[in-house]
Parts: sequence; structure tokens; C-alpha cells
Amino acid sequence: MASTSTTPTASGHDELQRAAREHLLLHFTKQAAAYGTEAADPAVGEPGPATAGAARDELLVLERGEGPYVFDTTGKRHVDALSSLYCAQIGYSYGEEFTAAIGQQLATLPFNTNWNTAHPASIRLAEALAQRAPGDLNHVFFTNGGSEAVESMWKIALEYFRSTGRPQRRKAIARKNAYHGVTLGALAFTGVPGYKDGFGTPPIDVTHVSNTNAFRAEDAGDEAAFCARLLDEVREAITAAGADEVAVIIAEPVQNAGGCLTPPAGYWKGLREICDEHGILLVADSVICGFGRMGNWLGIEHEDVVPDMVTTAKGITSAYVPGGAVFVGDKVAEALFDPSIVLRHGITFGGHPVMAAAALKNIEIFERDGVLENVRALEPHLRAGVESLLDLPIVGDVRGKGFFWAVELVKDAEGTRYDQAERDDLLRGFLPHALREAGIVARADDRGDSVLQIAPPLIADAALLDEIVAALRVVLTAAGEHMGLAS
Ligand SMILES: Cc1ncc(COP(=O)(O)O)c(C=O)c1O
Repeated sequence: MASTSTTPTASGHDELQRAAREHLLLHFTKQAAAYGTEAADPAVGEPGPATAGAARDELLVLERGEGPYVFDTTGKRHVDALSSLYCAQIGYSYGEEFTAAIGQQLATLPFNTNWNTAHPASIRLAEALAQRAPGDLNHVFFTNGGSEAVESMWKIALEYFRSTGRPQRRKAIARKNAYHGVTLGALAFTGVPGYKDGFGTPPIDVTHVSNTNAFRAEDAGDEAAFCARLLDEVREAITAAGADEVAVIIAEPVQNAGGCLTPPAGYWKGLREICDEHGILLVADSVICGFGRMGNWLGIEHEDVVPDMVTTAKGITSAYVPGGAVFVGDKVAEALFDPSIVLRHGITFGGHPVMAAAALKNIEIFERDGVLENVRALEPHLRAGVESLLDLPIVGDVRGKGFFWAVELVKDAEGTRYDQAERDDLLRGFLPHALREAGIVARADDRGDSVLQIAPPLIADAALLDEIVAALRVVLTAAGEHMGLAS
């Protein structure tokens, strides 16, 4: 992408701050803190993206991207070590290629739906995705994002059970602290209590079982025992819900909230077996893990398990335009082809021609530029880099996979957790400011425990990964000193 000169005038910067404060409502953000209209109280009930608690800083307004970098309205460069909330898989320099693909589509057919009719772009995209998906995930239902994908998955599951004579299956199993979206249906699957309180009784009966956080787990040293315990809990939850009433088990391949929680060996195979035993559908929510984050297409292939459905969004277009999709296996799709079944679900813009053209271009770029191969080749390097931070006293644990890593922040060598006031200070005050100063976009989060998380663009080379790890070392060393830990 040609680099344009957009060095802002001070008044342009100030003017944007004003206009944002007066008109723009920020997502998952305490507006008063972000806009500095609330004095010296950075606490945010639940943290959103890295910018959420930046009470002492102005709103971070990013106006330009180039490769893995983003530039704010003061002209400062930041390494986007979070890929814009796990979306910008290939960074920011493919704009001209996407413009050409989208322009051609707009000049040919700007819009048609996938309601009853279709258009070549969505058909070609569905075919291209199915060809790259594991197993029999041969069918694709398009959405505009992740929450819609999760809700579409649920309605497809219910239509499947209706078609196959089991309409009583209307319950689900998900995991504690997992995030599956915030629209009211998707929110039912989300297991973060702070996001649900006050929004009424969830419309879906979901039991939340333990996630796969091994840090502090007494049996974590014995991976097989840890795995068996987690799977036993799933079985117990199914029994309690009524085995013939459960429709779906949904889980992320690596759970984001809580800090990149990887499963023990055998966990996904165990889930598959349990689902097969009880006639339950297994769903991988790969909204984050898909499209290269794990070095493969759907973020689940490395588990050697084929789910019945996979939900995706974010990286499907590398976020050059919004998009999402549910991958549906043959067994479920076959039921939808029952002559008596109407799939009573549709989204006007799902599979928009522009989204389809962009997603096809994204696949082309992934394959031409070796994006999956890059992640697979550099995963050991990134792992070693992040693990090297374990020598810092504030780092209690390191976990992750692919280009998706978290460090857990602790008070001492025993791994003691920070209390709420300390979290507010560390995660919503100190770290966002220090990361901003260091020119690194990362995520300080405590929806489970206190973590700092990175998800670099999948085009990052070893030097950039080293730069990110080096910056984290500086920031975390200062954070440890700030929290009273000897360095
Ligand atoms: C695993 C997972 N599922 C679903 C969603 C919801 O996606 P969206 O924000 O596009 O609605 C997210 C969003 O971060 C997610 O991480």
C-alpha cells in the first residue's frame, strides 16, 4: 500500500478528540474514563480492548496502518501486537489488492442476498472455504460477525434436531469465562458473569463447565488426570441437564478470556466422544482461532477432531471488511435438506458480495504469501520468546498456541492473585499507559485472572516478534516495580 502522508495538525487531533467525546459511544468502555470526563477513577467494571481503561491518556485514535503497524493522530507508531482485536491477520498493507477485488465486485453486482437466490461471489467463497475445511464441514452459512455466527449456529442446531425428531434438545454446555458474543442469544453461551448481570434471564439454557486453565490446578502436573477430570465434569453437566435435552457443546479451541487457555492433550477427542455417545452436536467457536491464528484454517485441525459446526468471523476477511460464517458438517446439513424443513433464519447482509470478494482475496493472499506456513514456522520462536518472560517476578504463567499468547500476572512466586484494587491499578491504569508509551498494542485483561495478551499479525517475521517480546519485557519489568516486586 502506498504510504500516504497523513501527519495530522494538532488541531485535527484535538478536533477528533472533541468530536469523539461528543458523539462516539465506545464499545465495552467506561465512556467517562476513556474520554477523561471522570476525574482520577480509571476503574472499568469489565475490561474491553486495550484502550478501555486508558483513563490517564487521551482516546487512542488510530488513523493509518502499514504492515503490522498502526499510527495514531499524533503521528506515533504502534506495533499492532493484537491484530486489532484478533482480526487484522495480514496487517494493513493489502488495501490496494482488496480495493481492486471489491471494486470489481461493486462494478459487477454491488448487492444481492443469499435468501432464496444467490450470487457467484458467495457461491465461490462457500466452495473455497469448504475445500479448505477439515472433514465433512462442506456447507457454509454467512453472517456479518461472530455473535451472529454463534446465534446462527444455534438456530441451525435447533432446526437439525427438529428435522430429526428431537425437538426437545434445547440446552447447551459452554465453559466458564468463555466469550461467545454479547447479542442476547450469543450472550447466553458467554460465561463471563459480569457481562450478563442485569440483562435478564438468558433465552438459552446453558450450563457452564470448567475451562482448561491449568495454572494453579492441583492435578495439572498429570495431564491425563486433568483432562479426565474436565471431561467428567462435562459428563456430569450433561446428566444434570438431561442427556436427551442437550443440543450443543460449544468451546473455543484455545479460550481467549482467561488468557489463551489451551486444552490438555485428548480434551477435544474426549468432547467428540461424549457428543457422539449422547447425540449432541460439537461446535468449535473459532471466531479468534480461525484463519491462521493457530497456523491452520479453522483453528481446530491440530486436535484431529472434526466438529459438527465451526463458527468464524474476524480473520475470514482479515477485517478488510466485516464478515463471518458458520461451517456446517454433512450430517447437520443433510437434515436441512429434508423437504419439510425451512431454515427459519436469515441475515440480509450475510454473505454480502463485497464481503465474499474480500474473503476470496484473503484466501488468495494467505496461500500466495504463505501466511499459515509463516505461523507454523515461527510458532516455536514466539513461544520461546514469550516463555523467556517467565524470569520476571510478575509473570506467573505463559500459555498459548500459534500467534496467540498470554502471560499471567501475579503478586509473588506462589502465584498469588491481585485483588480488585490492584487489578484496577495494574490492568486499567499502569499497563495501558505503559503499553501506549512503548508503542505496543496488547490487551491487559482480567475476565478470568490478570493477563497480558498478544496476537500479532500473522505476517510478522522473527524480528518483529522479537521486538514485541522485548517491549513486553520493558513494560512488565516496570509493571513489576510498580506493583512492588523486585526485578
Ligand atoms: C470466540 C468468540 N466468539 C464470538 C465472538 C463475537 O464476535 P463479534 O464481536 O464479531 O460479534 C467473539 C468476539 O470477540 C469471540 O472472541
